[in-house]
Amino acid sequence: MGYKTLFFGLSCILFAHYIYMPIPENIEEPWKVRMIDAVIKITSLLATLFENMGLMKFEDLFIILMRIQNTEPVSDENITVIDTDFSDIPVRLYLPKRKSERQRPAVIYIHGGAFVTGSFKMLPYDSINRYTANKLDAVVVAPDYRLAPKYPFPAALEDCVLVIKFFLQDKVLEKYGVDPSRICISGDSSGGTLVAAVTQELQDDPEYKNKIKAQILLYPGLQAIDTSMPSYRENEHGPFLSRKVAIKVTYLYLAEDEELVNAILRNEHMPEESRHLFKFVNWSDLLPEKYKKNHVYTEPVLGKLNASYPAFMNSKATPLLVSDSQLQILPLTYILTCEHDILRDDGLIYVTRLRNAGVPVTHDHIEDGIHGALSLATAPIYLRLGLRIRDKYLSWLEENLQ
Ligand SMILES: *[C@@H]1O[C@H](CO)[C@@H](O)[C@H](O)[C@H]1NC(C)=O
Ligand SMILES: *[C@@H]1O[C@H](CO)[C@@H](O)[C@H](O)[C@H]1NC(C)=O
Ligand SMILES: *[C@@H]1O[C@H](CO)[C@@H](O)[C@H](O)[C@H]1NC(C)=O
Repeated sequence: MGYKTLFFGLSCILFAHYIYMPIPENIEEPWKVRMIDAVIKITSLLATLFENMGLMKFEDLFIILMRIQNTEPVSDENITVIDTDFSDIPVRLYLPKRKSERQRPAVIYIHGGAFVTGSFKMLPYDSINRYTANKLDAVVVAPDYRLAPKYPFPAALEDCVLVIKFFLQDKVLEKYGVDPSRICISGDSSGGTLVAAVTQELQDDPEYKNKIKAQILLYPGLQAIDTSMPSYRENEHGPFLSRKVAIKVTYLYLAEDEELVNAILRNEHMPEESRHLFKFVNWSDLLPEKYKKNHVYTEPVLGKLNASYPAFMNSKATPLLVSDSQLQILPLTYILTCEHDILRDDGLIYVTRLRNAGVPVTHDHIEDGIHGALSLATAPIYLRLGLRIRDKYLSWLEENLQ
């Protein structure tokens, strides 16, 4: 009883504290954003507390909060929704009911969640996938890939590749009435990382080359070797995704090691032999002037960590680390970046590099955008920002999957 009161009291004080933290000026619905941000910050504080008490791992509290948003497959008047599996990997399918004169386009949607949490079952993903199927009269395929830290890199990528290869078989496309020339892969945040990696892999495979019409990356993370880019500095404390939580959770996909986390926070985690990779992410060269502001380029400190984590140098985990010639072969690309997002510069640099390589890219930058807003486009907690991002991206898709 005493503990509960103390706990409740403390939470109220923390909430009051966080809710008055400054947020960027141009943010729409500032009080809603402050509230959501306060909830996330308290969650992360509790996660740290529980971890220190030995009750659970830091990421477990986030996993629980995500899992309570899971839904069952429910068909409605327009869409048949089915949970099944492709190559033994769970997928949820959204199949439009109305009669169609011609074969339908298809969207393969890879969910976000920092590689550690998330599922196609979560209400925000179920809603956007249903909405996409209805609005575009498209077949939507949503895979649930294995998650870290139990299944680190390359498990997630392997699962996504298997699902897509299964789906791309002629007999499967025929079964679902899909037009093989109008298939795209789309994803947000870590799902965007996976989209970029999958697309690179398929385009490089003679059997699958040119089978994907477009890739769509919504505020993706694309590299893990420089964590001191301007966007990381400006958005260190969020809103929503703070640098510390992102590094603690997301990087479990690449390696599980507390020493490593501290080194990443200091941007001193890469080995000497990674020096040649920094030209692929050098923001001093690759970021448009507008985003450099007054930031001074500092080189990451190499060779300090007495351990080597090969995944950090593997482009299949961090898709920005490929050469220009590997970029040239990529299909039509849509990239959406948010101003208030530590991952902003990853996306901006990919835009620059793809354009330099001659790939047609549409880039939408949301000046008042916040990382993860697309997952806040469903009642009971929705932001108008989330709906704007959804509509912007889907109107591009509608035009380009014709
Ligand atoms: C079914 O589609 C119609 C037309 O697009 C739409 O107005 C209606 O809200 C949809 N129903 C559901 C349950 O989404
Ligand atoms: C990044 O680019 C700047 C400007 O061109 C250059 O001075 C710096 O040495 C580069 N850093 C690395 C690690 O390549
Ligand atoms: C550091 O690396 C060296 C060479 O790889 C190895 O011999 C040494 O045991 C390592 N030290 C620690 C503390 O891990």
